[in-house]
Amino acid sequence: MKAFRLIQAVLLLAATYVTAQDTEKQQMPLFYGWFFNDIIAAGLKNITDGHLNSLYSDVPAVQNFLRKVSNQSQITDPLKYYAKPLDPNTGNFDPFYHITAKYCGGKDCSNYTRQIEKYMKQNFSTDLVGVFFTPRTFGIRVNLSQIQEDIFGMEVSGVAGTDSVTPNLEAIKDYPGIDFLPQDEDNFHPTDSRAHVTLGCAPNVSAVTTGEDLLKILAFEKNETFCGEVVSAEHGNLIQMGTDCDIFVYYLEEKMIANATFDVYYSRCSKTSINLGTLWVGILSIVSLYWFLQRD
Ligand SMILES: *[C@@H]1O[C@H](CO)[C@@H](O)[C@H](O)[C@H]1NC(C)=O
Ligand SMILES: *[C@@H]1O[C@H](CO)[C@@H](O)[C@H](O)[C@H]1NC(C)=O
Ligand SMILES: *[C@@H]1O[C@H](CO)[C@@H](O)[C@H](O)[C@H]1NC(C)=O
Ligand SMILES: *[C@@H]1O[C@H](CO)[C@@H](O)[C@H](O)[C@H]1NC(C)=O
Ligand SMILES: *[C@@H]1O[C@H](CO)[C@@H](O)[C@H](O)[C@H]1NC(C)=O
Ligand SMILES: *[C@@H]1O[C@H](CO)[C@@H](O)[C@H](O)[C@H]1NC(C)=O
Ligand SMILES: *[C@@H]1O[C@H](CO)[C@@H](O)[C@H](O)[C@H]1NC(C)=O
Ligand SMILES: *[C@@H]1O[C@H](CO)[C@@H](O)[C@H](O)[C@H]1NC(C)=O
Repeated sequence: MKAFRLIQAVLLLAATYVTAQDTEKQQMPLFYGWFFNDIIAAGLKNITDGHLNSLYSDVPAVQNFLRKVSNQSQITDPLKYYAKPLDPNTGNFDPFYHITAKYCGGKDCSNYTRQIEKYMKQNFSTDLVGVFFTPRTFGIRVNLSQIQEDIFGMEVSGVAGTDSVTPNLEAIKDYPGIDFLPQDEDNFHPTDSRAHVTLGCAPNVSAVTTGEDLLKILAFEKNETFCGEVVSAEHGNLIQMGTDCDIFVYYLEEKMIANATFDVYYSRCSKTSINLGTLWVGILSIVSLYWFLQRD
């Protein structure tokens, strides 16, 4: 009879495992977006830090600006002014370099989830066309492909028809996974989109600010209100804008192209709820197992 009860117990465990899997599927998404893998992220960090460093040493306006804002925030090294914001859920360093496509937060995102289902885990060749920094944020501006634009604004424009474009990129040795292509030097209005990668933020500034800063840049680009001359720097043209001339936009000579995987990022609240669910199911299973084996 013990063997029979053991089989019963195993079946019960299997059932509870399935229940746990169901619970996992009910996590609340924090946001959807395109994520770069670790190797590409490391390359992007190296490249963009390099841009900031060389602008700091070559362009006096950049040096003055970074010194001023760092001093105001009591930061000794101006090149460490921008730091990747901590993950609001865990309080840990946020390792993900990504482009947010849809922020869900605590809200119901199920309509969006349904519409983008077919794009999940797919690779998208992504165009990174420039870099910008302000008193608040440091970011990369992204020129979305048509299909990415549709996914970005999905809840407005409905599901796009075509498949994602994933050409084979010829990666250069120094930066695996990142390709470089020349772009139009005189194009001072390369994107219409707030799509961006947050590279770093000033102290106490959250990552959502990067998108707000980019929207401001788009407005200044539209009416061509700039400060002073265009500076021809090592990797492109630098333009200052803003009422205090403290917004810097770097129009790169070469855009960077890298694969990014469309995926979801879950919030900690939901992870906690699975953990609790799994714990509960676990306790239930052990109690049941004990009960089955003890009964005689
Ligand atoms: C980029 O990587 C190279 C090679 O590892 C390194 O020498 C350089 O200091 C890095 N640059 C930055 C800005 O981190
Ligand atoms: C950041 O916020 C903390 C807590 O509100 C405050 O103590 C600190 O001075 C702020 N830092 C800066 C640079 O504003
Ligand atoms: C900021 O500037 C003031 C005045 O120039 C100076 O006394 C102070 O040491 C600077 N603070 C930092 C952190 O560099
Ligand atoms: C989802 O779509 C349905 C039907 O199109 C609509 O009635 C509902 O309000 C939408 N829900 C949200 C949260 O947008
Ligand atoms: C997607 O691209 C990343 C980065 O290039 C690569 O690591 C991954 O294997 C690709 N995935 C697929 C399914 O091709
Ligand atoms: C980008 O993704 C595509 C499709 O998933 C893959 O074939 C290609 O090798 C990737 N490119 C790089 C540079 O990893
Ligand atoms: C941005 O992408 C569009 C296609 O989606 C293209 O027509 C345009 O030339 C691109 N701009 C830049 C600066 O790459
Ligand atoms: C251009 O747009 C910016 C941002 O909206 C605004 O602050 C500025 O006053 C505008 N300038 C002109 C000349 O219209």
